[in-house]
Amino acid sequence: LVSPKFNDLSATGMAKPVGPVNLQALMPRALISTNVESFRLVFSPDVRRSLANRVEGADRFYTPAELREDPDLLAEVEFLFTSWRGPKLDEAFLIAAPRLRAVFHAAGSVRQMVTPAFWSRGIPITSAQEANGLPVGDFAYAQVALSLKGYWRLAREYRGLGSIPRGHKEGTGLHQAVVGIISLGSSARRLLKRLACHQLEILAYDPYVTPEMARRLGVTLTSLEDIFDRSHVVSCHAPLNEATEGIVTADLLSRLQPRATFINTARGRVVDNPALFVLLQQRPDLTALLDVTDPEPLPADSPAWSLPNLIVSPHIAGSIGNECSQLGEAMVDEFDRFLAGQPMLGAIDELAAAMAT
Ligand SMILES: NC(=O)c1ccc[n+]([C@@H]2O[C@H](COP(=O)([O-])OP(=O)(O)OC[C@H]3O[C@@H](n4cnc5c(N)ncnc54)[C@H](O)[C@@H]3O)[C@@H](O)[C@H]2O)c1
Repeated sequence: LVSPKFNDLSATGMAKPVGPVNLQALMPRALISTNVESFRLVFSPDVRRSLANRVEGADRFYTPAELREDPDLLAEVEFLFTSWRGPKLDEAFLIAAPRLRAVFHAAGSVRQMVTPAFWSRGIPITSAQEANGLPVGDFAYAQVALSLKGYWRLAREYRGLGSIPRGHKEGTGLHQAVVGIISLGSSARRLLKRLACHQLEILAYDPYVTPEMARRLGVTLTSLEDIFDRSHVVSCHAPLNEATEGIVTADLLSRLQPRATFINTARGRVVDNPALFVLLQQRPDLTALLDVTDPEPLPADSPAWSLPNLIVSPHIAGSIGNECSQLGEAMVDEFDRFLAGQPMLGAIDELAAAMAT
């Protein structure tokens, strides 16, 4: 499972310590645990080099299975760096890691890793959720921009038509349109930053955002009904929790403006997917762009695949490829804050972990 290529310091261009003083021996002891692919993408050579300047143990990674097989590997570990497919921080893990001081999760949600045993020990944990929101916001911006141009609808109307679709210059374009945003977390705030160079009316729904925060973000807080009634594009960024499951109901979806687009880059279960698929069949003027579905993946025989006005992407809005190293870089910055005694920007407590997936 452990590729020697990725566990070899020399393969990353990192110099091994030389001279009479082994500086690494004086550094805090860290351990990276994730799978092969996450290690390669998230803990890029640059990230590993940065870590190697700060901790001992940044030269290789262990899969959660390897740690279960040999818990002694955790005996001296003070700092744990993880990413997707990281280890479960349960009682057995924590007993094996008695010196653990902090966990740095170079990915989004920590929900799959944390346990009551972990929270009861009060060990700080931080994640790169903010950094992971950036590519989601960029992705949503691209989809909103093309939606306001009528791109998705016109591209399907043009296919095989032999003439220019009627009314192809109608619509709002990226000027003086209404954009609706559900939830104003990190991905939505990145989207807002991208939208700021256009003159648009932005409607938003987020029960935890105050009018003052909304003013600073340049959005008008309103109800979900108002958003679906008035927006040319609605982009969903709601985390999945008890309050948001199914929050985008059949009634809301049926309110969509003629030729509107609905975008979901958040979580499939926030939206009534069956109702959406029925609506798309009834209203070919609408477009839905789903990066997440319920279930996910959609079964091969799902009738949704034959809807021409539905585009489903395989959960790629978050970090992919080179973008992933930004997650590792964010955790190096958090490590520096922790050592300097400063608050960690992505620190998560039990309540915050339960609120977001
Ligand atoms: N498609 C992908 O590849 C991908 C990648 C990263 C994240 N995501 C998902 O995107 C979603 C949003 O991520 P984020 O990082 O922007 O979230 P975030 O945690 O930064 O923000 C969540 C926002 O939701 C708001 N919120 C909480 N409860 C709410 C409620 N009941 N109704 C409405 N809003 C509520 C909070 O106030 C907060 O502003 C998450 O579900 C996340 O899992 C998807």
